[in-house]
Amino acid sequence: MVKTIGVMTSGGDCAGLNTAIWGVTVGALKRGWKVYGIHNATDGLFARPLRYQELTAKSFEFPFARLGGTMLGTTNAGNPHIQIKEDGTLEDLTDQQLVDRFKEGIQKLGLDAIVLIGGDGSMAIVSRYCKMAGIALIGIPKTVDNDAPGTECSIGFATAKQVVVEALDKLDTTAQSHNRFMIAEVMGRGAGHLALQSAIAGQADVVLIPEIPYTYEKVVEKLRSVRAGGRRHGLIVVAEGLKTPDGKHYFAANGKTFAGISEYFVDRLQQEPDRFNVRATVLGHVQRSGDPVAEDRILASGFAVRAIQLLAEGKTNRVVVYQNGRIHDMGLDEVLAISNSPVIPTGDMIKIAQGLGMYVGDV
Ligand code: F6P
Repeated sequence: MVKTIGVMTSGGDCAGLNTAIWGVTVGALKRGWKVYGIHNATDGLFARPLRYQELTAKSFEFPFARLGGTMLGTTNAGNPHIQIKEDGTLEDLTDQQLVDRFKEGIQKLGLDAIVLIGGDGSMAIVSRYCKMAGIALIGIPKTVDNDAPGTECSIGFATAKQVVVEALDKLDTTAQSHNRFMIAEVMGRGAGHLALQSAIAGQADVVLIPEIPYTYEKVVEKLRSVRAGGRRHGLIVVAEGLKTPDGKHYFAANGKTFAGISEYFVDRLQQEPDRFNVRATVLGHVQRSGDPVAEDRILASGFAVRAIQLLAEGKTNRVVVYQNGRIHDMGLDEVLAISNSPVIPTGDMIKIAQGLGMYVGDV
């Protein structure tokens, strides 16, 4: 029987994580369970002393559940082997030491299960440690990329979409003033959900995403047709994970994450004989920020309630998912086997964009 659970957020942050932490805590406390919030994902269990806090109703007197970010901290980078000690110095742990510390941490806190709020990458990493430590896991999907496997929606996506659409509305006013084509570069890693859905809501003329091949010439053709229709400004949305027509990715200065593909288009388009006036905006991490919109709060609450219900029913190693308007759950291994969920080129969103006359690539 479950008595004590640990909850952690792992991977890139997004809006709605605190709502999910709160929902998990409320649901667990209602059943008389104890809840520990583990700090900075698995790092909280690798570190010595352990980094965690007990979560009670009092933990939410400050309105964390309404705010963006994660009150527990998270990590999406790097090397778990390097841990920062309390005195600020570093320690380099072996694989075996990490597993041992994870197990020991779980025993010290008396955890019966872990609820992980994370994306596909975190789900794979944390579940590996949980399996080695023999502890039950329930996954709650979150990611602004919306490519978590098995679920149509992930926590954070709706808010990120709202941020992008508000940015497109703003870019449109300055585009109009200057007769410019503004290029907005949108997050998503290898997935184009955020770019595509934001482009629809933001009434863009072109949207380019990694899942769909395109030609530069057709982008130009589209801009010419916009001009021919009497409008001298417009919006182009490009997903950060898009490749150039000759197959090149653009990376941020950190060398790991995508950024900069929008500048490729500025470079080329301004050399056209049409004298296109073009500017690029890389929206960056503001897309992960801000307080969660209602849709994300509802999704996070629904996922949290389902996660606790699963544990109460004795079900473990499941991931909660949203499918066909309902919250369900799937086996963890089944979800991990899907890996991730890209935009389907024959899907409704592509058809909507095409129906609006947008150039979405060649599909
Ligand atoms: O996966 C979420 C995401 O925001 C991606 O869209 C983006 O490419 C990446 O994380 C950025 O990661 P970081 O926080 O390491 O810059």
